[in-house]
Amino acid sequence: MSIAPPPKTVLLTGGLGYIGSHTALALHEAGWRVVLLDNLANASRAVLGRLEAITGAPFPFYEADVRDRAAVEAVLKGEGVQAVVHFAGAKAVGESSADPLSYFDNNVGGAVALLQAMAAANVRQFVFSSSATVYGTPKYLPYDEAHPTAAINPYGRTKLHIEEILQDLAASDDRWRIAALRYFNPVGAHDSGLIGDDPNGIPNNLMPYVMRVAAGQLEVLSVFGTDYDTKDGTGVRDYIHVVDLAEGHVAALEALQPGRALGESPFEVVNLGSGVGHSVLELVKAFERASNRPVPWKAAPRRAGDLPEYFAEPSKAKALLKWEAKRSLEAMCASSWAFQSRQAEG
Ligand code: NAD
Ligand code: UD1
Repeated sequence: MSIAPPPKTVLLTGGLGYIGSHTALALHEAGWRVVLLDNLANASRAVLGRLEAITGAPFPFYEADVRDRAAVEAVLKGEGVQAVVHFAGAKAVGESSADPLSYFDNNVGGAVALLQAMAAANVRQFVFSSSATVYGTPKYLPYDEAHPTAAINPYGRTKLHIEEILQDLAASDDRWRIAALRYFNPVGAHDSGLIGDDPNGIPNNLMPYVMRVAAGQLEVLSVFGTDYDTKDGTGVRDYIHVVDLAEGHVAALEALQPGRALGESPFEVVNLGSGVGHSVLELVKAFERASNRPVPWKAAPRRAGDLPEYFAEPSKAKALLKWEAKRSLEAMCASSWAFQSRQAEG
């Protein structure tokens, strides 16, 4: 009789946040033992109860800051962690321009402290939440991973600095196995309708704004720019369902294992996108169909710092991770609406 090996343990920093919570579910489903750490700067403890309600399983949770090296090292050692997915960080572009030092402290300082704690605990499998924002103004499209990087705001520069740190670290010691995943535009929610993107205050990003307009909580969507040189004049992005994105993390962690595609490579950057660009108005129309509600909109001036159009070349992820985005824009809108409706019901 063969005995199944014990599940591997993975720590998710920022594990109660939007992408972290969906990834916790996907990793749990894939058989990992998932430990969560979050300082609750942009998350609610209620998410923990929802993860437990969805899965029927407990998730060890530590309320801690990734910059607290001793606390993180204690969690890594105490929980027998073998790999880390690092979501924790701040992500508001405007805020990063107003207060760059806090962004470098939290994002770059947080990553350095976490990596030091990992080295001390002898944990060297690392998946990092990077962003398509590192590419800056497109020299060509779709962006592939060889596209030059030139972040255009402090938030993007924190991601780029961390990628450079990771590259240096991997070059210094070939025991590290590191994947930096460059996400495109994550939207949507888990099928349960219990977790999703629920920003505080007036949303900056398109999908949460559209959700609240459809629900009647906000009056009208301002479409930032209707005169771009794009299919209908509005901005084009590569929207990716957050559940696809979560599954991309499972694939990345599995690919980092010995004998797998990234198992021999100390450091890789990989795009996680669908490869398809959708305009603001295409998303609005898809949302109206999915919710059966009107989404009133008005033309507004271009938003400073916005690029007209970008989308991913996703073939590296397919080749190395055996992963590709599967869920449609309709599914992204329908799941967002289901989450919005559940929230409204309380
Ligand atoms: P989120 O804000 O929902 O999640 C981040 C989590 O990290 C939050 O729960 C927050 O409380 C926690 N956190 C922040 N600073 C911390 C610290 N110092 N110590 C411990 N916990 C801390 O954001 P998200 O959308 O889930 O994003 C996750 C990661 O993905 C971030 O690094 C973000 O920059 C990156 N990313 C997000 C997007 C996006 O559109 N959502 C796109 C590209 C990259
Ligand atoms: C934003 C971040 C980017 C981050 C990405 C992840 C900015 C400037 N950039 O990208 O760093 O990696 O999220 O998801 O914040 N739009 C409207 N009306 C709105 C809101 C948005 O028309 O009320 C348009 C935007 O002009 C853009 C598109 O919708 O064309 C998507 O915007 P958004 O959801 O904010 O994402 P990005 O700007 O692509």
